[in-house]
Amino acid sequence: MKSVRIGIILGLGLLLAYFWGGDKVSGYYGDMVLNSKAEKRGMPPVVFPHWYHRAEFKCKVCHPAIFEMRAGSNDIDMKKIIVDGQFCGKCHNGTISWKPIECARCHSGTPGMTTGVLEGFPK
Ligand code: HEC
Ligand code: HEC
Ligand code: HEC
Repeated sequence: MKSVRIGIILGLGLLLAYFWGGDKVSGYYGDMVLNSKAEKRGMPPVVFPHWYHRAEFKCKVCHPAIFEMRAGSNDIDMKKIIVDGQFCGKCHNGTISWKPIECARCHSGTPGMTTGVLEGFPK
């Protein structure tokens, strides 16, 4: 009987932790798709690995200094990245990180992906 009760308590705890934890991290996502223009202009959608970058940079390095914190709200194009050194180009410039010349490294999505959190990824 005792172990059943412990089991129930543990189960409830996990359930609570799941919902509470889920809440706490909402607003911070895994992979994000940027596809306001890319596909219309003949390129595969961009997949931005949020967590991967988070390992190296605090949120405030990017938000709001480089990117507004809302999916699709940043008006990004390749001139701004390569020529003006804005957005991804703030780091992907051959100094902080690799140059933005290997297109497929960022344009790694598949046609039809929509701007926002990559479907199938946990929020
Ligand atoms: C290396 C830069 C970078 C870092 C570091 C970073 N983000 Fe982001 N974040 C982005 C980009 C790029 C987007 C997509 C913007 C777009 O779609 O225009 C984004 C989008 C978001 C969004 C919008 C999601 C939506 O669905 O509207 C939220 C919320 C967010 N980030 C939170 C965070 C938090 C919290 C952290 C730190 C734990 C963080 N970000 C760290 C670059 C970064
Ligand atoms: C604050 C600096 C910074 C910004 C802004 C930034 N990146 Fe990165 N990114 C990095 C660093 C550092 C790495 C790790 C690779 C390295 O060490 O050169 C990286 C790695 C990557 C990788 C490789 C991930 C892997 O699995 O190998 C991709 C893809 C990528 N970035 C895409 C983007 C895109 C798309 C944007 C703009 C939406 C962006 N990054 C903006 C710093 C940045
Ligand atoms: C560091 C990441 C990164 C690399 C590398 C990169 N791009 Fe992009 N590209 C982006 C982002 C982010 C956008 C904006 C996506 C959107 O919102 O549709 C974009 C948008 C575009 C667009 C549509 C906007 C415009 O400028 O007309 C084209 C076309 C494009 N890229 C072509 C390329 C080509 C060609 C290469 C290789 C020479 C390349 N990109 C390399 C991140 C990158």
